[in-house]
Amino acid sequence: MIVFRKKDELNAKISSLKEENTTVGFVPTMGALHQGHLSLVEEALANNNLVIVSIFVNPIQFDNSEDLKKYPRNLQQDVDLLNTLSDKIIVYAPTVEDIYEGETKSKKFNFDGLEHQMEGKFRDGHFDGVGTIVKLLFDIVKPNNAYFGEKDFQQLAIIKKLVSKYNIPVNIVGCKIKRDANGLALSSRNTRLKPEHKVVAPFIYKTLKAAKEKFGTKSANKVVEWVENQFANHELLELEYFTIADEATLKTVKRKSKNKQYRAFIAVYAGKIRLIDNIALN
Ligand code: PAJ
Repeated sequence: MIVFRKKDELNAKISSLKEENTTVGFVPTMGALHQGHLSLVEEALANNNLVIVSIFVNPIQFDNSEDLKKYPRNLQQDVDLLNTLSDKIIVYAPTVEDIYEGETKSKKFNFDGLEHQMEGKFRDGHFDGVGTIVKLLFDIVKPNNAYFGEKDFQQLAIIKKLVSKYNIPVNIVGCKIKRDANGLALSSRNTRLKPEHKVVAPFIYKTLKAAKEKFGTKSANKVVEWVENQFANHELLELEYFTIADEATLKTVKRKSKNKQYRAFIAVYAGKIRLIDNIALN
């Protein structure tokens, strides 16, 4: 498998691929790859001639310096894992300097309000950091299709908005959340959970499933209240937010209406590790 560290080298490769009319699928990641990432790569492999996976821990999307410092990094292990899937994968693992050329700074974006909900309220500047890197990566990789997980549903919505606002010629594909057998959504951060937190973390998805069931008969407010109570007395998990939102606007639901799609979103601290998850409600 070829691993490019420099965008100029990758660019040369991509230009020759485009001349051969190769369709390029793109999976941007921050590495520490798990089955969730691999499911995106598999979907990309099934629908493109070649897949580019970027592995880059993007410093400007972290609002917490400890989280950035401790973010798991293991390029060789990631490359080995991708090698088990196919030989039609190219890895782009740039340095901060190669990407930002000395200007490691976010651009400011207006995502029509999507950026002010949920993660945007609790992670200052996060979506400006994500928008900046993904736009740069799209410019470099020029993919036909790009794959993002519903695990970060708000991010997926924001990328779709980015592409439409800037007329970027790429098709965005959303992919289902991959979970452990116990229901915990796979995440690179799960490897940093302490054993006692690992044991209780599946409570998050269990509560989401119960909330979905309750949403069939109860008001959004009642469901929110119920979820908050579930966490109020939990010894090891601390709820940051639980919100029921309209999938299109990501705004909190006040009153249910029949022809809208709703989704519940949650962020929880297990010790110092912040976990997010979500579930479609109807
Ligand atoms: P990262 O957290 O590494 O995730 C890369 C992609 O994998 C994202 O689209 C994410 O939604 C998806 N993913 C993560 N866990 C998943 C799971 N359990 N099931 C399905 N998909 C999952 O998201 C980022 O990196 C960064 O913000 C990035 C887009 C690369 C920009 O830096």
